[in-house]
Amino acid sequence: MTALKFEDQKLPDLDDYAALAEQFIPGRRAIFAIVEAAFLELLSQRSARILVVGAGGGEEILRLGQHNPHWLFVGVDTYAPMVELARKRLAETPVGARSQVYVKPIDGLDEKDFDAATCILTAHFVPDDGAKLAFFEAIRARLKPGAPLAIVDGVGVAGEDQTELLRRIWKRHAVRNGVAEEVAESNAENFKKVAVVSEQRQEDLLTSAGFERLTPIFRGLAIKGWLAFA
Ligand SMILES: C[S@@+](CC[C@H](N)C(=O)[O-])C[C@H]1O[C@@H](n2cnc3c(N)ncnc32)[C@H](O)[C@@H]1O
Repeated sequence: MTALKFEDQKLPDLDDYAALAEQFIPGRRAIFAIVEAAFLELLSQRSARILVVGAGGGEEILRLGQHNPHWLFVGVDTYAPMVELARKRLAETPVGARSQVYVKPIDGLDEKDFDAATCILTAHFVPDDGAKLAFFEAIRARLKPGAPLAIVDGVGVAGEDQTELLRRIWKRHAVRNGVAEEVAESNAENFKKVAVVSEQRQEDLLTSAGFERLTPIFRGLAIKGWLAFA
C-alpha cells in the first residue's frame, strides 16, 4: 500500500507550519493540554525522560516542556526540514537545553527506558503494510514497562460516509479559521491519501505491539487520541 508521506503534501512555507496547524486541527491546543495533564497524573517522579516520535516542528516539546522544568525530551523525526524547524524554535526557549531532536526513524534510536512517549499526528503517515505495527513495536521497546504512550492520529476508512462527512467538516472548519479555500481543500484531500486506519484497526495494531489499557483521551472530528501503556 502506498501512502502519502508528510513531505509529499503540498506544504506551505514551513515557517508558517505552527500557525497553520492551529488553524487546521480542531482542538490543537487541547491535545497538548490533555497530554500534559495525563503525564502529570501518571509520572510520579519529578524528573522524566519523554520520547517524542514525529517531533518535527517542536510543538509538543515546547508545550509539554514549558511548565515542567524536570522533564527531558528526546525527539525523532524522519524529515530534516521539520527537525530544523524544531531545533530553531526550541533554541529560542529554555526548553531547548532539555531537549534533543534527531533526524532518524524510531528504530534507529539507541536510547531506551523512557518514562513516557508521545506520537502526535505522525503514525498516520506510516503505511499499514507491516510498517505501522513495527513502528508501534519500536516505540514500545523504548519505554519502561507500564510507561504511557500518548498517541493522537487521524482515524477512519476512506470512502465511508462518516469519514467523508468528517472530511468535509474538516475543510469548513479550516476555512472558518481563516485558511484559504484551496489550501483547505488540498489538506482535506490529503486525508484520503495518508495511511489512516479505522479506530478498531489502530487499537488492534497497538495491542498487537504489546500496548495495554488503551484509554481514549481526545476526539476532534477524525482525529482521535489514546493513552496506551507499554
Ligand atoms: C503532521 S506533522 C506533526 C508534527 C508534530 N508531532 C506536531 O503535532 O506538530 C507529522 C510529522 O511526522 C513526521 N514523520 C512522518 N513519518 C515519520 C516516521 N516514520 N517516523 C518519524 N517521524 C515521521 C513528519 O516528518 C512530520 O514532522
